[in-house]
This record gives sequence, structure tokens and C-alpha cells, in this order.
Amino acid sequence: MSSPDRLFIFDTTLRDGEQSPGASMTREEKVRIAKTLEKMRVDVIEAGFPIASQGDFEAVQAVARTVKDATICGLARALEKDIDRAGEALKEANSGRIHTFIATSPIHMEQKLRMSPDQVVEQAVWAVKRARRFTDNVEFSAEDAGRSEIDFLCRIFEAVIDAGATTINVPDTVGYNIPEQFGETIRTLIERVPNADKAIFSVHCHNDLGLAVANSLSAVMNGARQVECTINGLGERAGNAALEEVVMAVRTRQDVFSCDTGLDTTQIVSASKLVSNITGFPVQPNKAIVGANAFAHESGIHQDGVLKNRETYEIMRAQDVGWTENRMVLGKHSGRNAFRTRLQELGITFESEEELNAAFARFKDLADKKHEIFDEDLQAIVTDTGIDQENERIKLVSLRAHSETGEMPVAEVVLSVDGVEHSGRAEGGGPVDAAYKAIEAVVHSGAELKLYSVNNITSGTDAQGEVTVRLEKGGHLVNGQGSDTDIVVASAKAYINACNKLMEPVQKAHPQGGDV
Ligand code: KIV
Ligand code: ZN
Repeated sequence: MSSPDRLFIFDTTLRDGEQSPGASMTREEKVRIAKTLEKMRVDVIEAGFPIASQGDFEAVQAVARTVKDATICGLARALEKDIDRAGEALKEANSGRIHTFIATSPIHMEQKLRMSPDQVVEQAVWAVKRARRFTDNVEFSAEDAGRSEIDFLCRIFEAVIDAGATTINVPDTVGYNIPEQFGETIRTLIERVPNADKAIFSVHCHNDLGLAVANSLSAVMNGARQVECTINGLGERAGNAALEEVVMAVRTRQDVFSCDTGLDTTQIVSASKLVSNITGFPVQPNKAIVGANAFAHESGIHQDGVLKNRETYEIMRAQDVGWTENRMVLGKHSGRNAFRTRLQELGITFESEEELNAAFARFKDLADKKHEIFDEDLQAIVTDTGIDQENERIKLVSLRAHSETGEMPVAEVVLSVDGVEHSGRAEGGGPVDAAYKAIEAVVHSGAELKLYSVNNITSGTDAQGEVTVRLEKGGHLVNGQGSDTDIVVASAKAYINACNKLMEPVQKAHPQGGDV
């Protein structure tokens, strides 16, 4: 097995994270996040649940094709169709893992699966053997392990390790455990499962009681050597353990932990921003590690102390997790090479010259309106819809919005829909409302606006605004993003981006839906 002092990080932002209502991601968005995770040196990236839909399958396939320095994992219930589909999606991975699972708690076995414990063990063993036909890297999860009987867990884990599982995952699926008890469960399992030394023990904690990180860390102190987590703690219901918190706790308290991860923690803040922007899930300012205030020292006493000696109030360095001073990196006169080089330094590369040219054109456009271009602006340029714009059916051609005190705001848009230009005009409560009504007058999406949020990318009144909208139609939730120095234009871009996503077909199964 691996060295005992290495803690493996299994990121499931693209799978469990995507299960948060409204956090759905396109294939391109998943690839972009996966590349950032690869740069961060995450060990395993769970890219999706390939049987869920053609889109999920293609996303896992695209991540497996693109990311070569991390193991790419696909989720599969303990079913032939799931496992075979995951195997197929992972074909092109340098290193692929199939993660198969079945529920083991009395309530799940009786009520959801309607299977006896013997049948569950038999199915689990069969599933692991089936997965081994595709890869020798197979993870088995006992869903709802946190409410399962310890004797049964010992029995099923011994059987699946014998069948070829190399990682044994212990999920606290409903976030029911508390740290001391969960740590004790992990210690007992490692002690009692006779062939425990042939597998890595892993944990996957949900945050229903706000204890996901604490439970994960307690498990690590008791022998777990893989933690499943997500950027910003995204995930089903209250979310999963936050990657940044687990990783920084272990790194900062090396006096307590006898292991460490191999992560480049300086990538954490940009990964957090990217995930927040793509999913439309904002990061609260006081969130540990990645919140805007996580390293801000407002009070005079604190500022004085930090200036005399940083360690008076800081236990980590902001730079170590990727916080940087806003740095003017490029300007109006910067050329294409400087632009490409700076993006490369930020870990952003382009698939084709056309993509680079389109992004460079947006950069020039921005530089005309904004004096100083910061790294954050560059990131927004490529995160903006523009990178996928070529494939979008609806495009913004022009927008005119007028608002004046005492007058009804009005907006006029020209959109290109499948290459044909259409215009729309509408009044609204404000210029953004008017713009959205004008867009609707053309596209007739009939969708309901579920979320509208604006963030300034850097400071100053000439800063770009980054807008996220969430639209819902017939139970289908999508997020759209747009950025611009003009907030009404950014808002329109975000709305159009979401409308484009609504036009993509969806029919997606939920992994824990109980269809066996
Ligand atoms: O929470 C859970 O049990 C899961 C499994 C599929 C690992 O997400
Ligand atoms: Zn989960």
C-alpha cells in the first residue's frame, strides 16, 4: 500500500457537488474545474455519474481525456449497466477508477433497496468484480455507513476487499455522526477487518450538522487515508466536507496529524472563485480559508499585532492559499503574447487559436474601458460565456438600456438566434429588469428567475461586474454567467448564457434515487 503518512484527496465537486440543486455544470465547465483541480494536485477527481445522462457520460469522458495527472473516477451503483457505462467513460483516462456503492444501513436496505443483508453483500461483491474487469482501481462505498451496524460493515468490507476493492469508503451520507464517534468507527473498522491492510480507508462526510470537516479530520486521526471533499463544501443538502478546510487543517496542524496531502494549496482561492462563479453559489465572507474576510484584520488591535508580528493573529499565510494583492498585470498596450503568457501562468490554456483570438478580442475590448487589468479580470474573461460562445445558439448582438429619474427604464436588445437577428424592446422596474424582459420578448424561454447575483471582480467603480443568474423551467435548473464593466450588459450576458443552457436536453438520474 501507499506510504502511511500520505493523505489522499478525492475531490467530488463535479459529482456530489453538482448534486446541489442549481449547481449543474456543463461539460466545458467541468473540464475547466477539473484542470484547476489537476493543477492543485488533487489525487482523485470524481467527474460524474456516467449512467445519469448522455451529458454526464460525455463530461466524465472529456475530463478523462483532458486531465492526465490525476486519477479520474466515475460513480456507479452496484449495477451492471452503471458499471459498464462508467468503464466506458473512463477508457481514455491515464488512471481511471470506478466507484461503486450500495447502501448498508438497516433503513436503506429494508426501505429503499428491499434487499436482505446477504443479498447486499452478494451484490457488492459482484459489483466490485465487474468493475475490476475495467480497472484494477476500484472503490467501494457503503452508502449510509454512518448509520450502519459495525459488524455488518466489517463483513461487507472484508468481502469486497477480497473481491478486489482497493479503496473502502465510509460515507456519513446523512451527516448524522459526531467526531469522536466517527473516528472510533474508523479505528474499529481498520482494526477488525482482517484484510484492511490491502485497502485505503476513506471517508465521505456530509454537513447536515455542520460537522463534515470535524468528522473527516477525526477519521484521519484514526487511520483514514483518503478524504472525499468538495471545493467550498458544495454538495447534496448542506454539502460535503470543504476541501480547503480539511487540507489546511492538516497542513497547519502537522503537530497533530501524522500525515499530509500532496496539494499545491496556492491554487485554493482561484479554484474556490471558479466553482462559485460557475455554480452561482456565493462564498460567505466569513467562510474559513476562502471567504473574503478570512485574512482581513479590521480591528485596530489586530492590525497592530499583525504588523508587529504576523503570527500574533494569523495561523496561516494568505499567500499559501492563493490570496494575492490585486496586481495590475496587463494594460491597453499589452500584446497577444503577453496576454497568452499571463494566462498560462494562471494555468489557463486554449484548445485552439480561435479561442485564444476570441479571448484576446474580449481583453482588448475590456482594456478600452478599464485602465488596469488584474488577474481576476483575465480569469473572468475566460470564465465568461465567451469561451463557449461559438457553440451558443443565442448571442447578444447589442443592448441599449436607458434609465432616468422619474422615467420608466427601457431596454432594447438585438439577439442572434441560430444566426438570424431579432430585436426586442421592453420597459421594466430598472434597467436590468427591462433588459431581461426585452430578451424574453425574443427568446420566449418562459423560465423563472431563481437567483440573480452580482459581484465586483476587483475594486473601483470601473471594476467588472460578474453576474450569475439561475433559471428554472419544468424542474430544469441552470446557471448563467456574464461579466462586463457595464452591469446591465453583464446581466444580459448571464441571462442569455442561462437561456442557452436551458435549450440543451436533460434527463438525468440521481445516484441515490433507489432505482435498482
Ligand atoms: O453520500 C454518499 O453516500 C455518497 C455516496 C455515493 C458515496 O455520495
Ligand atoms: Zn455524498
